[in-house]
Amino acid sequence: MLILGIESSCDETGVALVRSEGHELPRLLAHALHSQIAMHQAYGGVVPELASRDHIRRVVPLAREVLAEAGQILQDLDVVAYTRGPGLAGALLVGAGVACALGAALGKPVLGVHHLEGHLLSPFLSADAPAFPFVALLVSGGHTQLMRVDGVGRYALLGETIDDAAGEAFDKSAKLMGLPYPGGPALSLLAQHGDPTAFKLPRPLLHSGDSDFSFAGLKTAVLTQAQKLGAQLDARKADLAASTEAAIVEVLLKKSLAALRQTGLTRLVVAGGVGANRHLREQLNAACARLQVRVHYPELHLCTDNGAMIAMAAAMRLQAETQEGSALSTHYSFDIKPRWPLAELVT
Ligand code: KG4
Ligand code: ZN
Repeated sequence: MLILGIESSCDETGVALVRSEGHELPRLLAHALHSQIAMHQAYGGVVPELASRDHIRRVVPLAREVLAEAGQILQDLDVVAYTRGPGLAGALLVGAGVACALGAALGKPVLGVHHLEGHLLSPFLSADAPAFPFVALLVSGGHTQLMRVDGVGRYALLGETIDDAAGEAFDKSAKLMGLPYPGGPALSLLAQHGDPTAFKLPRPLLHSGDSDFSFAGLKTAVLTQAQKLGAQLDARKADLAASTEAAIVEVLLKKSLAALRQTGLTRLVVAGGVGANRHLREQLNAACARLQVRVHYPELHLCTDNGAMIAMAAAMRLQAETQEGSALSTHYSFDIKPRWPLAELVT
């Protein structure tokens, strides 16, 4: 089965082709991505209307590109998958519209995929694919969740952020320091030259005894510290960046370890944009090696949004659903879900 996946929920247009045979792990044949970061940078954040218009420009050429790279033609497709939510409504409509138009024209079914399920299953695209069950730390720009994952569609939420997401904490702190959007990678780069112990910043909910997170207070503490530094901020920026990164990483690390203890599982999967953070990976790798826990990440370039994870999630969902009929649709009357709790997917 040949599956085309389209991602357009935010500021990256991603298209990919995945081949799924029986119950073997689906294989990525080709993927292409256009990031809108440079376009939004002038505004310090994503401008939804510009994002939608750019997705319209990019999606068809990207689809042509992956088909050519894989040596396939449109008529070879069996399923067209797209990100149904959560995300920006206008941006989601582009991917959904194109997917349904393609499906209708080809007489092939379409499948709306949950963006976070895409992130969650993206480590299955790497050479070192995980096995179920595992604890998943899902850390993106909009979400921070710890989950117990027993299989495709078998997700139990252990805890989540009660305010800002980890990626948001990176982005907002970076903005306060005058770093360009998206703040996470920029802050992380600067942090390499700073002292992570230079400033005492809060580790919210670190000892709350549950798997919930809170990052809003951290952002306020960074703001207060930046104001205190005043004219010295420029000279101390790397130290403030390193201290901020250390605070976020420590909370993510300790909460993940607590979730592993609580569930008794010995496998951790890290997914979402913040999973690209080097410091987080180093800390998790060291701690997991000590505890004999296997830790899996998506490949670095598949941590942030992409089409491969959407095609992969569609393929894995279809493999899991064959018994009971599936979510495949030939109605082509797409309804996107800009807000869509992952819990609604549980089968
Ligand atoms: O998963 P993603 O691409 O989009 C969402 O679904 O939200 O995640 C984007 C987030 C942004 O907040 C970005 O700053 C953060 O991931 N991010 C990073 C790094 N790379 C991306 N945060 C920290 N360190 C990084 N290296
Ligand atoms: Zn994402």
